[in-house]
Amino acid sequence: MSFCIELTGKTAIVTGGSSGIGLSISQVLLNAGARVMIIDIDEKRFISVKDEIKKISPEFDFYEADIKNSEKISETVQKIISKESKIDILINNAGIVKDGLLIRMNDEDWLDVINVNLNGMFYITKNVLKHMVKAKSGRIISIASVIGEIGNAGQANYAASKAGIIALTKSIAKEYAARGILANAIAPGFIKTIMTDKLPEDVKDAIKKGIPLNRIGEPYDIANAVLFLCSELSGYITGTVMNVNGGMYM
Ligand code: NAI
Repeated sequence: MSFCIELTGKTAIVTGGSSGIGLSISQVLLNAGARVMIIDIDEKRFISVKDEIKKISPEFDFYEADIKNSEKISETVQKIISKESKIDILINNAGIVKDGLLIRMNDEDWLDVINVNLNGMFYITKNVLKHMVKAKSGRIISIASVIGEIGNAGQANYAASKAGIIALTKSIAKEYAARGILANAIAPGFIKTIMTDKLPEDVKDAIKKGIPLNRIGEPYDIANAVLFLCSELSGYITGTVMNVNGGMYM
């Protein structure tokens, strides 16, 4: 039996869609026939990948916005609604790291990571939810992290933000299930992107040794899981965290 996931007629928002996992998610959703609205703080990076995206489908748009700016995000969602008239899928993917030992972590690094990774998800989700509630349907998929489940030395701010994403996801799932809205999180393991490229080679090798599937994940590994959670195949799944990590830490 073979399944082909079809998202023709669906409109999706992908935050942080200019690079890495968000770019791959945007490409996979476009490939499945969805219209994709990319929201990202980095327009230059988007311009550098625009032609690559266009090869898959021209059905996308870009909105430059900082996910931690509540007012700007509200305006951006309004603009998308005026143009698209609906939002079927929201992918909360934008995220940053500012690592350091807790004892030396300054307030700014703590707040920046919480503001982008967790508060950003709150700002956009509440704005999008209003429209999903009216439509009585919607999918919200948020990119957490294995670190949000197990913690990590040097990543207290990041771990707290990602654990918050998981708790927020479970609350949305309970609050809006009766309105036909499904909310799930994906917890990636170690994925090859700009975020992880910065790590020294010996650290990457040590991480790889701890992955039973013996390879570092690729952005499409996460994008494929997102595609499943956007599809009819996952219609009875809400409030879960899908671990996509090659067996790491399990
Ligand atoms: P990346 O750095 O390649 O991409 C992040 C994207 O978010 C960029 O396009 C960036 O411009 C955008 N962004 C950053 N701050 C923003 C803001 N304030 N407003 C709007 N957009 C903003 O990173 P990557 O690796 O693709 O990460 C994507 C998500 O996956 C993040 O939430 C990250 O925490 C999560 N993740 C990544 C893992 C990895 O190993 N790469 C592992 C687990 C989770």
